[in-house]
Order: sequence, then C-alpha cells, then structure tokens
Amino acid sequence: MPIIRLPGLIDPHVHLRDPGGTHKEDFTSGTRAALAGGFTVVLDMPNNPGEPTVTPQALAHKAAITAGRLSCDVGLHYGATPRNAPTFKRVASMVFALKLYLDHTTGDLKIEELETIRNIMLAWPAHKPLCVHAEDRTLAMVLGLVPSVGRGVHFCHISEKIEIELIRDAKRRGLPVTCEVAPHHLYLTEDDLPRLGAYGVMKPPLKRGADVDALWANLDYIDMIATDHAPHTVAEKQGETPAFGVPGLETSLPLMLNAVAQGKLTLDRLVEMMHFAPASLFRVPSQPETYVEVDTERRIRIIADVMQSRAGWTPFEGMNLLGTVETVVLRGREVVRDGLIVAEPGFGQVLTPLA
Ligand code: NCD
Ligand code: ZN
Repeated sequence: MPIIRLPGLIDPHVHLRDPGGTHKEDFTSGTRAALAGGFTVVLDMPNNPGEPTVTPQALAHKAAITAGRLSCDVGLHYGATPRNAPTFKRVASMVFALKLYLDHTTGDLKIEELETIRNIMLAWPAHKPLCVHAEDRTLAMVLGLVPSVGRGVHFCHISEKIEIELIRDAKRRGLPVTCEVAPHHLYLTEDDLPRLGAYGVMKPPLKRGADVDALWANLDYIDMIATDHAPHTVAEKQGETPAFGVPGLETSLPLMLNAVAQGKLTLDRLVEMMHFAPASLFRVPSQPETYVEVDTERRIRIIADVMQSRAGWTPFEGMNLLGTVETVVLRGREVVRDGLIVAEPGFGQVLTPLA
C-alpha cells in the first residue's frame, strides 16, 4: 500500500458558519469535515450570517463558543467594515488576517467607496495579511492601490485568466501580492452548470475552460490552495435564489492528489500549496507531532451522504478519485484512524498567529 505522509494541511479560507448559520455547519461538524479532508488547521472567515466577526466582542464570542467542540485547530479572520478600523489594533494579534470584501457574495460586508478601501488598507497593520475578495476589474483596482498603500495583499479564490495574468505580472514586477485558488475553479467550468444547477453556483462564479486552463498554466504563480468551504443546506441551494458557495473540505485533497497523479503538479508542490505557503503567509504556529497519511493508490468515490459536513451535497458527487486520508495525527494523538474520525471534540484549539 503506497502510504505517504504529509504535514497537517492548512486551509486558509473556510466558512464554518458558527455563530449565525449553524444549520449549515458549525464548529463541531466543520472541524470534523476538516480532519476527514486532511486539514489540521482551518482559518475561518468573518462573514457569519447576521453575526459577522467585525467587532472585538464578536471575535471574543466566536472564540469562546469553540470551547469543547473543535476536532482540529481553528484560527479566526476579522472582517473590515467602513467604520471598524479603530478596533484593528485591539484584534490584530488574535487574528490571522483582515478580510476585505469588494464584490458581492454571502453576507453583508461588501465595501464600495474607493477612499474607504484605501483607508482600510492603510489602517490594517502592514505586517499582517490582508485577504481581499476582488474579482476582475476590482482586482485590477486593488493592484493599482498596492504601491500607494505600501503593503501586501492576498487575493482570495482567483478564477479568471486575466486575474492570474495580472497577478503574475505584478509578482514579476516585485509587488508584494499572493493568491489562492479553490479546487472547484480548477476542476469545473460554466459548461458544468447545466448538470450541476444550483450546486454550481458560487462566488466567484465558474468560468470558461480557457480560464481554467490559464490557472493550470500559471500554477507557478498561485501561492496556495484554499477550499473556500462554503456550506449551505440543500433547501438553500434549491430555492429560487440559490445561496452562493460550495463545500470543499472533504474533496480538495483528493482532487489535488488526482492532479498529482495526472502529472499536473508534483507532490512537493501540493505540500507547498496546502501547508508551507499558508503557514508562512499567515504565520500559523507549527503543530508538533502532526501529520496526515494518505493512500495514494486507493480510489475514493465522492458521496456527500458519508461526509462530515452538514451541507449534505457536493458539486463533485459520484466522482472517482485517487487518494484517501487514512490516518491523521494531531499533536501526537491519533484523530483519524483507518479513515474514521476518532478525535475527541475539544482536542482542537483556537490558534493565534506567531508574532
Ligand atoms: C462564501 C460564503 O457562502 O460564505 N460563498 C461563496 O460563494 N464563496 C463567501 C465567499 O467566499 O465569497
Ligand atoms: Zn469564502
């Protein structure tokens, strides 16, 4: 059996929906889904429905309600609003990044005004990551601001040919920018929409085959993989206005291992994109005695019914992939054995970033 050992994977971008959307997912189910997918650290986004993580109180509350419930380690991101810059200094050491929403998506955190955007970029400590949801022309606008504000920017879930080309060119010119791609944007196109229906609806939307090809062709300029795990219930997806987002924690590693098997990237590069790069950018503390063992030759059929996520569906249903998570050891303790979760809720911790 070709078992390979990987470091505990780090997902820099998940929506565990707790508090505010716990009928979709919560810290209990979401951290189990993470372990099932080989992740020992997930960084949780602030756009919680109705209870966004945009005040020190909301941040403290979110951290407090994890008590006794986490199966893997969790770090928190903070959300920008037009008026919460005065709180940045108080929260900066507790969170992994500030998230700035510049395009429409789940939640209510979109910011429009250019001067406000510039001021937020200036106010967030320059040594801390700034994660930006910016698509197409908005991404070009943020790139234009980078020299002016003199700080780094991390672009979330890029999906277009022009986006990766602009980021590639900015990197070549030495601008301090990084980016992540979600596996659904590497594996699905708008041609899958008739088949997927609402299960193919997410932000950024699925793009054309040429965009997907450009992402693969420019993989050297993509810093990391992020699942953008964004669970919604079947009813919320199948309603008249489907919620944006797809679950991804339990499918991303198998999808990326398949890409390795197809020669699209090396295993070393996968580990770079799913462990070392997020660890380095977000200053994630190392987890001693932590690893994931994967059987790279065992086939897995993607079936949402047997997943840990509360979503209960996946856009990859029925796919046959190569590579299963057999064992996960977190801080010396076995938390996944023979593919089954044996973690005790509460063994996972809320992390704070390295200084
Ligand atoms: C995310 C969500 O549901 O929270 N949805 C999505 O389509 N990706 C928000 C986001 O990351 O845009
Ligand atoms: Zn997201």
